[in-house]
Amino acid sequence: MENIRLLLVDDETDFRAPLKKRLARRGFVVLEAGDGDECQAVMNNASVDVVVLDVKMPGMNGIEVLEWIKENHKKTEVIMLTGHASAVDGVEGIKKGAFDYLTKPLEFPHLVQKIEQAVEKIRRDAEKQQEAEFKTRMEQQMISTERLASLGTLSTGIAHEIDNPLAIIKESAEYMRLLLSKADHADMPRKSDFENAVGKIETAIERAKRITHQLLGFVRKPETFFAETDLKVLVAETVEFAAKGAEIKGIQIVQDMEGVNGTIWSDPYEIRQVLFNLLTNAIHAVESDGTITVSLKGTDSRVMLIVEDTGKGIPKENLGKIFEPFFTTKPPGKGTGLGLYVTCGIVERLGGGIDITSRVGKGSRFQVALPRSRKACENMGDNKELCVDILNKIKGDPAK
Ligand SMILES: Nc1ncnc2c1ncn2[C@@H]1O[C@H](COP(=O)(O)OP(=O)(O)O)[C@@H](O)[C@H]1O
Ligand SMILES: [Mg+2]
Repeated sequence: MENIRLLLVDDETDFRAPLKKRLARRGFVVLEAGDGDECQAVMNNASVDVVVLDVKMPGMNGIEVLEWIKENHKKTEVIMLTGHASAVDGVEGIKKGAFDYLTKPLEFPHLVQKIEQAVEKIRRDAEKQQEAEFKTRMEQQMISTERLASLGTLSTGIAHEIDNPLAIIKESAEYMRLLLSKADHADMPRKSDFENAVGKIETAIERAKRITHQLLGFVRKPETFFAETDLKVLVAETVEFAAKGAEIKGIQIVQDMEGVNGTIWSDPYEIRQVLFNLLTNAIHAVESDGTITVSLKGTDSRVMLIVEDTGKGIPKENLGKIFEPFFTTKPPGKGTGLGLYVTCGIVERLGGGIDITSRVGKGSRFQVALPRSRKACENMGDNKELCVDILNKIKGDPAK
């Protein structure tokens, strides 16, 4: 610890002034107070590491001042000064949280030694607190990683189970359609009601299929297909595909890919899916007249695909949840809550990572980093950044 800050609290100026000089010569920053009130005023305005506190003072006595310090400035250590006859006050002080007590007349080296011991305790306490905070953070991270993993296993299991009966319902609906279209049903009573009902079943099946399809998209697909891919072409195509939805809302999608090498060794289908998911979210988040910017940035080893919007932003309390399956803030029918969950799975599979910056009312920025070369992809088991890790970084850094 550098610049250790001491506060001498004693009503006798003749005692305080020379002591202050000697302590300052030892390299301490020394503040002074003549009584309890002054002590409170000083401590409310400046940080103090160690207080050297006289027990016998007019006004608030030392024990009362000690109680106030321990209540309001827990990290500050207090060394009590008592008269020979009143060592019992020192013992009382220790009971109330003082670091130790010394009796007057003071031996200067003793005082310095005591101060150094108190500072050492402050340092150890700070270390302990840091360790405890680190442990809590690690525990939280493990819980959220496990939770994501088990949610993933559960939901993909359910998706598989639902796919089978869904296929049977679909087949039966098709069969009903076929029957209804036959000539011998031409005069069937209330035929159009039946047709409408079958239509509703078909729409519902489509919706359910979309959900199971997205969910299963998170499972490691053995057919992930890596190839040399031109990201500039891929981005332009995908933006064109998404542009219709944007146009309707009067949103402009800007592409910024000038002077970047867009060649990457990766799976173009998967990247398209990622970009499409991010664009869809951005379009949902932006009001009319807003802008979405898709940009590419790159180094020799990585390519950054960035989707930035001027939309409503993501509240801090949601940042930790948006990658969870089924987390959505959209009305039923509009959001499944699977887009980012799937995106996260894909990016992880491609050996990359996702970083998010968002400000409520200003907009959001999703940055996907992908390894550029074939070699980097082949070694990706060693260098991949899990989305979950990144999520925790976001949680831990409210400035983002
Ligand atoms: N660009 C964005 N701007 C604001 N909020 C977003 C953005 N992208 C994602 N979100 C939030 O994350 C949630 C989850 O997104 P996602 O997993 O794609 O599911 P869905 O889009 O179906 O709701 C969204 O409901 C929304 O609240
Ligand atoms: Mg979405």
